[in-house]
Amino acid sequence: MVCLGNICRSPIAEGVLQHKANLAGLQWVVDSAGTNGFHVGEAPHPLSQKVAKSNGIDISSQVSRQFIREDFKNFDLIFAMADDVLLDMKRIGIDQFDDKKTSLFLDPLYPGKHKNVPDPWYGSEDGYIEVFELINKGCDAIIQQYSTKEKL
Ligand code: 4NP
Repeated sequence: MVCLGNICRSPIAEGVLQHKANLAGLQWVVDSAGTNGFHVGEAPHPLSQKVAKSNGIDISSQVSRQFIREDFKNFDLIFAMADDVLLDMKRIGIDQFDDKKTSLFLDPLYPGKHKNVPDPWYGSEDGYIEVFELINKGCDAIIQQYSTKEKL
């Protein structure tokens, strides 16, 4: 799960997908990272933590890290929250960028629509609630699409 800062969107996506995968009995290891590195070492944004917690998911122990080239080797599937993140991932990945394992996070939920998860960073709590709902649905679609395949 990759966004820009790894403090708003992707920590929610990591927490929600890991939670759903565990409940479904899937042996998935879910991680998240940010392309810009501005918040490395920080906990998720307080409003991301709040909205996750109010939905029964504790993301408070997550720590922001920067997306690195080796992530294309270390993970089987990589989801970008938005187009700008995907561009950054190509820039960081250079020859390691792997189109086959990379897609937009909302592609499984909205195939062919090329939709982005909006960045709630500059907005109010309502934005974080909307983003949580979108990510929650997106994670359901990912589970549905990939849980029937061999262990990822
Ligand atoms: P995120 O939101 O990518 O969902 O974690 C952002 C957080 C911080 C910044 C940008 C986006 N920033 O530029 O500091």
